[in-house]
Amino acid sequence: MTQTTAESPVRKQRAQLKMRTLRTDRWWLAPALVFAGLMAFLIYGFWAIFDKSYFVAPYHAPFASPCLATSCPPEARLFGLAPFGDWYTLPPGILILGLPAGFRLTCYYYRKAYYRAFWLSPPACAVGEPHKKYTGETRFPLIFQNIHRYFFYLAVVIATVLSYDAVLSFRDKDGNWGHLGLGTIILVVNAVLIWLYTLGCHSCRHITAGRLNHFSKHPLRYRAWTFVSKLNAKHQQFAWASLFSVMIADFYVRLVAKGIINFPFA
Ligand code: FES
Repeated sequence: MTQTTAESPVRKQRAQLKMRTLRTDRWWLAPALVFAGLMAFLIYGFWAIFDKSYFVAPYHAPFASPCLATSCPPEARLFGLAPFGDWYTLPPGILILGLPAGFRLTCYYYRKAYYRAFWLSPPACAVGEPHKKYTGETRFPLIFQNIHRYFFYLAVVIATVLSYDAVLSFRDKDGNWGHLGLGTIILVVNAVLIWLYTLGCHSCRHITAGRLNHFSKHPLRYRAWTFVSKLNAKHQQFAWASLFSVMIADFYVRLVAKGIINFPFA
């Protein structure tokens, strides 16, 4: 085994290969799919933010929930509140966009995904990257990835609001309980997937039982940690499932709001 010392140049250099990689499998497929998936989400999200058909009783499009601007229809406002004054004239979705976006952007799984797919840093294991230097996440702006834990707290609030919207979708247009449309099912499935993704967060796992020395002294925290750990093992799958479910739910509500899909089956 070669030993490296502080003086040895070996430690600071990368493997000196003439070829970019020795891999012969389709290593480029995963980053290409991630690139396509995330680009589709970004393009849809940009369109949705400026689209005004985000509410039709009893459905609320997730990209515009909670609706906090005075331009929101009264039934769409969270608890009837509109904390922002008439001075705010931009689309209501912009007010809350930063919370789920920041949560996903700083997520450990998404970091790996977009570092590979967008920055090619590196595009896959054992594949050379185009960048000459590697500084990790120790400098501006990537040092801010460390605030992920705080985005987790905010994501819990957003997941709670989306769950509340899903519950309200069991009412009909007149506010009577008992409605069950395709939109209700879509919003409920979306809320469940959002929770599975949110609770499987690495920060949540640390919050439940990080730094505990004796699980036996904290049985409840141990049980919570066991549950979160199971979700955490499937974090990548829930990241994608919830990404698509929130996009599908949002699009579906807008189709109903635009009259392209009609009640009573909606
Ligand atoms: Fe993915 Fe926290 S690590 S949401």
